[in-house]
Amino acid sequence: MLRNRKVIVTGAASGIGKEIVKKCLHEGASVIACDINEHYLRDLKQLMDDCNVLYTYQLDVSNYKEVSDFFVYVETEHPDVDSLVNNAGIYLAKNLLEYQEAEIDKVMDINIKGFIYFSQMFGKSLLENKRKGVIVNMSSVSAMEGSSDAIYGLSKAAILGLTKSSSMNFSPYIRVNAVAPTMVNTPMMDTIPDWRKEEYLNHQLIDTPIMPEDVADTVTFLLSDKSKHYTGATFDINNGAYLR
Ligand SMILES: NC(=O)c1ccc[n+]([C@@H]2O[C@H](COP(=O)([O-])OP(=O)(O)OC[C@H]3O[C@@H](n4cnc5c(N)ncnc54)[C@H](O)[C@@H]3O)[C@@H](O)[C@H]2O)c1
Repeated sequence: MLRNRKVIVTGAASGIGKEIVKKCLHEGASVIACDINEHYLRDLKQLMDDCNVLYTYQLDVSNYKEVSDFFVYVETEHPDVDSLVNNAGIYLAKNLLEYQEAEIDKVMDINIKGFIYFSQMFGKSLLENKRKGVIVNMSSVSAMEGSSDAIYGLSKAAILGLTKSSSMNFSPYIRVNAVAPTMVNTPMMDTIPDWRKEEYLNHQLIDTPIMPEDVADTVTFLLSDKSKHYTGATFDINNGAYLR
């Protein structure tokens, strides 16, 4: 499904991102896996048997200079890149009343600005040469239904706005879509308060737990030509919770 494609994945070394990397490789793509955690990136490379079409790059998505340097590397070493999965994100599991100023900045910087920097630099590099491409942005059910962590929820709602606007700005060359999963079985899920987990589960019409590889299935579909008619859209992955 992704033969001859080259995909950048952020937050690639854990949870959902890691499964997206594995699935993209399985579908025939080359992958540039970015993450802040160098140690996890090394583990990922080993896990994939030092696969020669998996490239790893350590960076902080919220650092403009580091992201700019990354795109210089991409233009030099991987000028054929055609896809971006904006996935890196953090969840602090805090009530709005508990948030310190530095924590607010941190969530906004990673969950919003990181997506903006990558979208902008990826968009520029493709549009300059009128090349076609695809972006998939990782949002969340909390963008629509609210989150018990207000700053996280608003950051994920912002990603739906970014998705719609960049699908217009990058048209007709780059398709941009978002996915909005509910609870996915990753280290991040363990930090959601128990009462909130229960609420989410009570709303689900299907009781099969959502695994990171299930999210990766939807993401690879959106990266592929099978989704060629979709742009500016949000795909819920939520077992039928919160029908809209
Ligand atoms: N797990 C869920 O229930 C769930 C539900 C909906 C949406 N999401 C979203 O899915 C995405 C992935 O979440 P996950 O559950 O796999 O989390 P995770 O914590 O398992 O993985 C996140 C990855 O992002 C990396 N990362 C964090 N800050 C970074 C930074 N500044 N620069 C580069 N990399 C950074 C981490 O090192 C880690 O490898 C996030 O955007 C999250 O908000 C998760």
